[in-house]
Amino acid sequence: MAKVYNFGAGPAMLPESVMLKIQEAWLDFKGMGVSLIEISHRTKEFEQVLLKAQEDFRKLTNLQENYKVLFIHGGARMQFSALPMNLAGRVASKKCLYVESGNFAKLANKDAKAFCDVKVIASSADTNYDRIPQVTPEMIDQDAAYLHITSNNTIYGSRYNSFPETGNVPLIADQTSEILSREIDYSKFGCIYAGMQKNLGPSGAAIVVIREDLLGHASEQTPPLLNYTLADQDNSLTNTANTFAIYVTGLVLEWLLEQGGVAAIQKQNEAKAKVLYDLIDSTDYFRGVIQPEFRGTMNVSFKLPTPELEAQFLKKAGAAGLYALKGHRSVGGIRASIYNAMPMVGVETLAGFMEEFKKNNG
Ligand SMILES: Cc1ncc(COP(=O)(O)O)c(C=O)c1O
Repeated sequence: MAKVYNFGAGPAMLPESVMLKIQEAWLDFKGMGVSLIEISHRTKEFEQVLLKAQEDFRKLTNLQENYKVLFIHGGARMQFSALPMNLAGRVASKKCLYVESGNFAKLANKDAKAFCDVKVIASSADTNYDRIPQVTPEMIDQDAAYLHITSNNTIYGSRYNSFPETGNVPLIADQTSEILSREIDYSKFGCIYAGMQKNLGPSGAAIVVIREDLLGHASEQTPPLLNYTLADQDNSLTNTANTFAIYVTGLVLEWLLEQGGVAAIQKQNEAKAKVLYDLIDSTDYFRGVIQPEFRGTMNVSFKLPTPELEAQFLKKAGAAGLYALKGHRSVGGIRASIYNAMPMVGVETLAGFMEEFKKNNG
């Protein structure tokens, strides 16, 4: 089969070496004669997988002792409800602050409304989320339970290149589409969470990193499997964990350490995004969706002169082995998701294809 580069936004491509390890463990995990997905989450073999994944995550992020690393069911969106259930009770008013910088940010506050008093303090909806809205310290009520942001907006490609100062209000970030893609100071956050299906592994589960003092506030209605305090007490094994997702995540974390850690992958990510944005900026033929100062490195969204040309571009790209480049339906155009696992050669192949397409269809 000819080489295919997968630019899908998620579930997304994984490193090839990880796929090969999965293939092996699929049939025979560590010489046990049974598959990784056939063993109990209570075996010592799986426990080692879980503990090693948590330890490697800590290594990669220089995480302080007072943060917990939890694996929670249900992907990122499930946390949109779990967060207010676990944290709104920190304050009597149950006031929770949200910034709306894209579709998922909007969904986060929509889902939260059932469990807390949502206050959206800033939004860029009026310009179709082409930027991160400004948040100043005066906008943050100091009696709120938390401020929620979406640090990278998958559909558009915008990213917080600096984070709001929140005083005593815990800052919570949905990092689903950028976790471990750049160095960040975790101590500035009360909680960071991410669905696994982009920079970590399979879909349907999430990693939740939470500061210890924020535990213990879950409402009585919180389902046990969404209760972060219980997940911490049971070390993410309250019920049958998503063993496969945790196993794959563990392999991806090992791979990241082999790459030189987050600082090294950040450099690669910046270089990859630069290849595409330099090309976009060099011509009027391609137009970036996001204002330059808010560009991230994970999702590069752009348009061509007409929707007809975009349709042709996608068709020819698919035939050339450049897979899943269609922009999200709410934006249109093209979106190249270039997560940690995308090699530079994949990005260069796409850039070459873009040049050629422009030459032939300019
Ligand atoms: C930033 C962000 N948040 C939340 C989600 C929802 O994730 P899930 O489908 O795991 O619930 C996504 C999915 O792509 C996302 O990109």
